[in-house]
Amino acid sequence: MTLQLLCFFLSLATFFSVPSSATIILGSTLYASTTNQSWSSPNSTFSISFISTGSNSYIASITYSGGVQIWTAGSNVDSGGALQLLHNGALRLINGSGTTLWDSGTANRGVSYASLEDSGELRLLNNASVAVWSSFDNPTDTILPSQNFTIGKVLRSGLYSFSLLRSGNLTLRWNETVVYWNKGLFLSLRPNLTTASLMLQPIGILSVFEPSLTNGEIVAYSSDYAEGSDILRFLRLDNDGNLRIYSSARGSGTITMRWAAVTDQCQVFGYCGNLGICSYNGSNPTCECPSEDFEHVDVNDRRKGCRRKVEIEDCPGNITMWPLDHAMFFTYPPEFSSQAFFVGISNCRLNCLVSQSCVASTSLADGSGLCYFKTSGFVSGYQGPVIPSTSYIKICGSLA
Ligand SMILES: *[C@@H]1O[C@H](CO)[C@@H](O)[C@H](O)[C@H]1NC(C)=O
Ligand SMILES: *[C@@H]1O[C@H](CO)[C@@H](O)[C@H](O)[C@H]1NC(C)=O
Ligand SMILES: *[C@@H]1O[C@H](CO)[C@@H](O)[C@H](O)[C@H]1NC(C)=O
Ligand SMILES: *[C@@H]1O[C@H](CO)[C@@H](O)[C@H](O)[C@H]1NC(C)=O
Ligand SMILES: *[C@@H]1O[C@H](CO)[C@@H](O)[C@H](O)[C@H]1NC(C)=O
Ligand SMILES: *[C@@H]1O[C@H](CO)[C@@H](O)[C@H](O)[C@H]1NC(C)=O
Ligand SMILES: *[C@@H]1O[C@H](CO)[C@@H](O)[C@H](O)[C@H]1NC(C)=O
Ligand SMILES: *[C@@H]1O[C@H](CO)[C@@H](O)[C@H](O)[C@H]1NC(C)=O
Ligand SMILES: *[C@@H]1O[C@H](CO)[C@@H](O)[C@H](O)[C@H]1NC(C)=O
Ligand SMILES: *[C@@H]1O[C@H](CO)[C@@H](O)[C@H](O)[C@H]1NC(C)=O
Repeated sequence: MTLQLLCFFLSLATFFSVPSSATIILGSTLYASTTNQSWSSPNSTFSISFISTGSNSYIASITYSGGVQIWTAGSNVDSGGALQLLHNGALRLINGSGTTLWDSGTANRGVSYASLEDSGELRLLNNASVAVWSSFDNPTDTILPSQNFTIGKVLRSGLYSFSLLRSGNLTLRWNETVVYWNKGLFLSLRPNLTTASLMLQPIGILSVFEPSLTNGEIVAYSSDYAEGSDILRFLRLDNDGNLRIYSSARGSGTITMRWAAVTDQCQVFGYCGNLGICSYNGSNPTCECPSEDFEHVDVNDRRKGCRRKVEIEDCPGNITMWPLDHAMFFTYPPEFSSQAFFVGISNCRLNCLVSQSCVASTSLADGSGLCYFKTSGFVSGYQGPVIPSTSYIKICGSLA
């Protein structure tokens, strides 16, 4: 081969390599199997690439310098997966089989290029440089400084979600319906907010803003607020259902928790899965089953919950109530109102035993005689010395 030809092929290779600038042209593709291929922001603070999540499993993510993931496209793909910025303007994630797993929904909407900003925002822009789609407007589980989290937006992680309501309240929910954290603000005194938004300042103050207020209302301070330089702070809904502020020093790839919405992790509904009981082993929340009549669904992941060794409907002998001292089962509306009774502790046990729909019951030990029935298909428990109630759970057994 002549030197000229070699130079030609080398320049061709350079030409077809992935653009490293902020502008991503239509027709660009990232492949899951190609290592170290990425689209970077102008000063490389953020980049988009595939991250390996296990054998033959990859996820397309925007990461902060060091590798902290702050946004992800769809779900895991195999090594044949790719992220494509199509000529029609759609950004699309495909699996090796060619199946579309995620799509920005921007085909034929005038997108002429994409851009990853130094703020971490991925934007699909038209020829007038107006964003047709933005990762800040379509968050996954994380909010970055300068990201405007308005009413109607949702952070999700597994069955958990976080949102800012019209009422001005901030809520954490399990499976859309169970609200296990509900924080009211002064702003909540104004009815029907529509223009409020939650923002995290780079120095670590989380506030809700509303156009009629000159200053935002502060929700939380990062414990390292205003300290250090070249530190990214972000708000993330973790897969354990807690909402936290973290900080990460540039390039470190490590994160440090600086604030958590729910200080008592066992108060997160469903943390230990169905029929799981949360308790503390020292300062760590652990997940146990109610009794020997249950087993972990997955011994390697106790958060997946428990199941009865013998189901109630298959019980050959007598059904009884297993007692759990200093324990409660979380009961939230609409269960709450229809399933609360003033009966003594022994009737709290017996009435549940004879009720077809009752799975478990909790009797408050404060003298009120209040008893809650758990009738839903999902039972989430908490046991610890400070819990002022006794609970019972239906089992197939011979215990009197
Ligand atoms: C990918 O990047 C890592 C870390 O920057 C480096 O150690 C590795 O050699 C690179 N691999 C390839 C194939 O370029
Ligand atoms: C992607 O393809 C792999 C292998 O064909 C398959 O195992 C996996 O379930 C697919 N993922 C999705 C989300 O369809
Ligand atoms: C920009 O896009 C619009 C609509 O897609 C089109 O009508 C217009 O000609 C484009 N302008 C330029 C300069 O390409
Ligand atoms: C990259 O750009 C952002 C936004 O302008 C800036 O805050 C950050 O300090 C820059 N980082 C570096 C390493 O230049
Ligand atoms: C955030 O979004 C709201 C609603 O779209 C808007 O009124 C407000 O000006 C935005 N705030 C910032 C700082 O961009
Ligand atoms: C979540 O809610 C849906 C719809 O109400 C229900 O079908 C599903 O079983 C619930 N998930 C769990 C884990 O209970
Ligand atoms: C807002 O949160 C407060 C608790 O901080 C609660 O008492 C109130 O009922 C909530 N309002 C709504 C509409 O959820
Ligand atoms: C709140 O405002 C929105 C939009 O202005 C309106 O559609 C909605 O009916 C209002 N809700 C209440 C409870 O006033
Ligand atoms: C509690 O923690 C200790 C020390 O980490 C560990 O050895 C023990 O197995 C834990 N117990 C349970 C029930 O998880
Ligand atoms: C079931 O309960 C009845 C009535 O209390 C009792 O006579 C019987 O021995 C019990 N059977 C078993 C298998 O425990």
